[in-house]
Amino acid sequence: MFDIGNIKLDKAVLLAPMEDVTAVPFRKLCKELGADIVYTEFVNSDGLIRANQKTRKKLEITETERPVGIQIYGGNFEPMVEAAQIAEKENPDLIDINAGCWVKKVATRGAGAGLLKDPPYLQKMVGEIVKVTNLPVTVKTRIGWDDNSILILEVAKRLEDVGIKALTVHCRTRCQGHHGDADWSWIPKIKEVVNIPVIVNGGIFTAYDAKRAFDETGADGVMIARGAIDHPWIFRETKELLANGYIKKEVDVEERILTALKHLRYEVEYKEMRRAVIPFRKYYTGYLKGLYNSSKIRQELMKHEEYEPIEIILMEYLEFLKNNVEITDN
Ligand SMILES: Cc1cc2nc3c(=O)[nH]c(=O)nc-3n(C[C@H](O)[C@H](O)[C@H](O)COP(=O)(O)O)c2cc1C
Repeated sequence: MFDIGNIKLDKAVLLAPMEDVTAVPFRKLCKELGADIVYTEFVNSDGLIRANQKTRKKLEITETERPVGIQIYGGNFEPMVEAAQIAEKENPDLIDINAGCWVKKVATRGAGAGLLKDPPYLQKMVGEIVKVTNLPVTVKTRIGWDDNSILILEVAKRLEDVGIKALTVHCRTRCQGHHGDADWSWIPKIKEVVNIPVIVNGGIFTAYDAKRAFDETGADGVMIARGAIDHPWIFRETKELLANGYIKKEVDVEERILTALKHLRYEVEYKEMRRAVIPFRKYYTGYLKGLYNSSKIRQELMKHEEYEPIEIILMEYLEFLKNNVEITDN
C-alpha cells in the first residue's frame, strides 16, 4: 500500500523524474493517461539557491497534475537543505531527493548516486531535510555504486530511520548506468528491512513488465521512465491489466497521432515555439512506432520547427493510413 501524506494508493504507477522530459507538458499528458504520481526533472540545489531562472522554472507545477513531487539534487549539505525549503514554497505534494543519478558530472561530485559512497552522510543530509520541511520527503536511489558495494539494505534502513516516507530503487548500480538487467530481486529484500512503501524502477517498458514487477517483487509502486517516453499509454494499460487481467483498448493509429499532436500543443503552450518543437523530435519514434512508412514521415517531421506543418503532415498521414487499411495494417 502506497500511503504518504494525503496520497493513498494501491499499486501505484508512477512517472519517473527525467531531465528534459518531465516538465509540465509531459507530466500533464501522463497524468491524463493514468499516472498516479508524477515528478519534476531533477532540480539542482546550487542553481536554486543562486535563483538561476532556468533552474527555478523547473519548480513550476500545476494543479491538474497532482500529486506531484519536486526532485532536488546536490552533494552539499546546506544547499540541499535550503533547496528543499525553496521547493516546499512551491507547494508540491512531496519532495524527492535524488541519490541515484549516475552521470559523471553529478555522481563523481558527490551528488546523485555519489551519495551512495557515504551512507551516513546521505542519512544526515536527508534527516535534516525531513526536519526542516513539513512535506513528505522521499528518496530515489540505486542498489549501490558497483557490484562490490551493494549497500541498499543499509541505506534503506538508515533513510527510514530519519523519517523518509517512501523509497524508490532503480535496481541497477551506478556503474551499470542504464545498461544490463535491473535486478528486481532486491525489492523483496528491502521490504523485509523497512516498513515504508518501496517503489521498483528500472526495465519496465510495457504494462506486462509493470504487472510482472508487482507480482515478482511485492513492491508498493512501479516507476516508469523510458517506457513512458516511448509509449505514454503505459500508465493506462498497466491500470487496465492490473484491474482486469487484460488491456481493454490497444492504442490505434488515430489515438497515436492525435495524442502526439496534443502533446506537442502542450509543449508549445509552455515553451517558445522552437524550444518546444525541436526537442519534441525525440518522441516521434515512440508515437509512430510500427506504423506504415513511419521512418519517411519522421524524416519529414524533423525538417520543421513550427507546429502547423507538423500538424498538416501528421493529419495527412492519418488520413492516408485510415484510407489504406489493407496495406497499412500489419
Ligand atoms: C532522459 C532521462 C532523464 C533522466 N533524468 C532523471 C532525473 O532527473 N532524476 C532521476 O532521478 N532520474 C532520472 N533518470 C533516470 C530515470 O528516472 C530512471 O531511474 C531510469 O531511466 C531507469 O528507469 P527505466 O528503465 O524505466 O528507464 C533519467 C532517465 C532518462 C532516460
